[in-house]
Amino acid sequence: MEHSALGDTQIILFTSCKGGVGKSTVCANLAMAIAQRGHRVLVIDCDFGNRCLDLVTGLSDEVIYDVGDLAFGRVPCERAVIADRRSENLFFVAAPYGFDNRMNTFSFQSAVKRLAAWGNFDFIFIDTPGGIGEPLQFAASIADTAYIIVEPTRAAVRAAERTAEFLSLRGVRRRRLIVNKLYGGSVKKAKEEIISIIDSTSVRLIGVVPYDPELIRAGNRGILIDEMLSFNITHAFDNIAARTLGEGRRLFAHIHRLKKLK
Ligand SMILES: Nc1ncnc2c1ncn2[C@@H]1O[C@H](COP(=O)(O)OP(=O)(O)OP(=O)(O)O)[C@@H](O)[C@H]1O
Ligand SMILES: [Mg+2]
Repeated sequence: MEHSALGDTQIILFTSCKGGVGKSTVCANLAMAIAQRGHRVLVIDCDFGNRCLDLVTGLSDEVIYDVGDLAFGRVPCERAVIADRRSENLFFVAAPYGFDNRMNTFSFQSAVKRLAAWGNFDFIFIDTPGGIGEPLQFAASIADTAYIIVEPTRAAVRAAERTAEFLSLRGVRRRRLIVNKLYGGSVKKAKEEIISIIDSTSVRLIGVVPYDPELIRAGNRGILIDEMLSFNITHAFDNIAARTLGEGRRLFAHIHRLKKLK
């Protein structure tokens, strides 16, 4: 089956049923957190027609080729993959600037397989746009794990469950929730909220990320956690990195007071 054709590379897609909940932010910063722990991570932007991960990662000036060029055999992997200057373990492939309607499941899979065979990556992260459109279907055809990003609202959680069902039908074996933009002052209150989310969903939780304006500023300037000052944020991503790597780590380890929204 396709999902096992990638040797030792674990492929994780990032999705959500809603736009703007922080898929790209979480994907890019978690990639950096795992790279900082010494694992090779490649991030592929699968937001065809609306490329933006190059901005979040601060690599937009370096994009020349994209995953479409790889899918159609126009360039070798070494030309399409951008090596991050901040970490020797972090790599990036851009989305096509405009939507290429020749892209299909088969061509996307062939690009990912070439990259996996070429780069000896421990992880390939695929950032998808919101909703259950073609990019998510392409990514689901090759990923064995999905991280579903939600905001802490019941509606978002219910929608996440539907996404998880869709992914399950598509053969994505492991499905996990990340609750992003947690706010409200006390961690104790947030924990209660998280417990009610766990109660009302059949998707297991892999991590939480507090709401923090530093992430917005950083996202606008192409800065990742390696240069952020907020310990809540750097610890949050390190916690998820640890849990992704199978280490036992408390969900809220080292996370202190949460911001209050005005
Ligand atoms: N934990 C957070 N705290 C504060 N702001 C955040 C947090 N996570 C993400 N954001 C901000 O939310 C906005 C949307 O984030 P992002 O672009 O990552 O979402 P997305 O789900 O990838 O959106 P799209 O659906 O457009 O791809 C950005 O301005 C980002 O900086
Ligand atoms: Mg995005």
